[in-house]
Amino acid sequence: MLEVTDLHVQYGRLVALRGVSISVKEGEIACIVGPNGAGKSTTLLSISSVLQPTEGTITFDGQTVNGMRAEDVARMGISQVPEGRHIFTSLSVEENLQVGAAVRKDKGAIRKDMNRIFETFPILGERRNQPAGKLSGGEQQMLAIGRALMTNPRFMTIDEPSLGLAPKIVDRVYEVVTELREKQGLTLLIVEQSSERALKAADTLYVLRNGAIQLGGRPRTCRTARRSTRPISASRKTTRAR
Ligand SMILES: Nc1ncnc2c1ncn2[C@@H]1O[C@H](COP(=O)(O)OP(=O)(O)O)[C@@H](O)[C@H]1O
Ligand SMILES: [Mg+2]
Repeated sequence: MLEVTDLHVQYGRLVALRGVSISVKEGEIACIVGPNGAGKSTTLLSISSVLQPTEGTITFDGQTVNGMRAEDVARMGISQVPEGRHIFTSLSVEENLQVGAAVRKDKGAIRKDMNRIFETFPILGERRNQPAGKLSGGEQQMLAIGRALMTNPRFMTIDEPSLGLAPKIVDRVYEVVTELREKQGLTLLIVEQSSERALKAADTLYVLRNGAIQLGGRPRTCRTARRSTRPISASRKTTRAR
């Protein structure tokens, strides 16, 4: 579904990505893990065509994404949840969701999608008229995901959903993400600093360091490959049932 090939991105003279290649298949959850400054956000911003690469290509269903306008990429079915969520704290929950639908013209379907989001996240329905700034961190993350769903995407990127959230809340966020994949057939690319959740959720895992992919594959393979040096996660208790 998504193919990123040999992506190079610079900020002025600073080289942020030096040849990143990843592949995300339809219906899967792919994760990129890497430390602060590795290039995770840069990769996601390139996929949304907010940043333009100096070299390399990004294709979605065979169509070249780089060079397109960001809003046209959104219309293709790619949606992103940005790092730090960026919800509008003084707007109500419902108004934040409407912002997500700004690129759409199908008003009837927008209402239907909003109701579906309130079904997925009942707490957002209960608080639809409250200012988003009143929500807890976890609820704000749900709202950011809800807003991204308002573009009716087939593919969603999420930048560090765990950031600043308690472990139990992070569990809930990942439950929701997995549900979206199972029930709505959404394909996801999630980036995280810590590999623990990503290892549990991911069908495919990439390790990004210093602007380059160090390792990629099914999580179990990555774990085995790295065990000789430093395990990605020593605390993973269960393996995926599938
Ligand atoms: N707007 C920017 N201007 C200049 N350099 C940037 C900018 N954004 C990120 N960088 C640099 O690019 C590299 C990758 O950053 P980023 O993609 O944000 O990493 P991550 O999301 O993995 O923490 C880092 O060296 C960072 O300092
Ligand atoms: Mg980042």
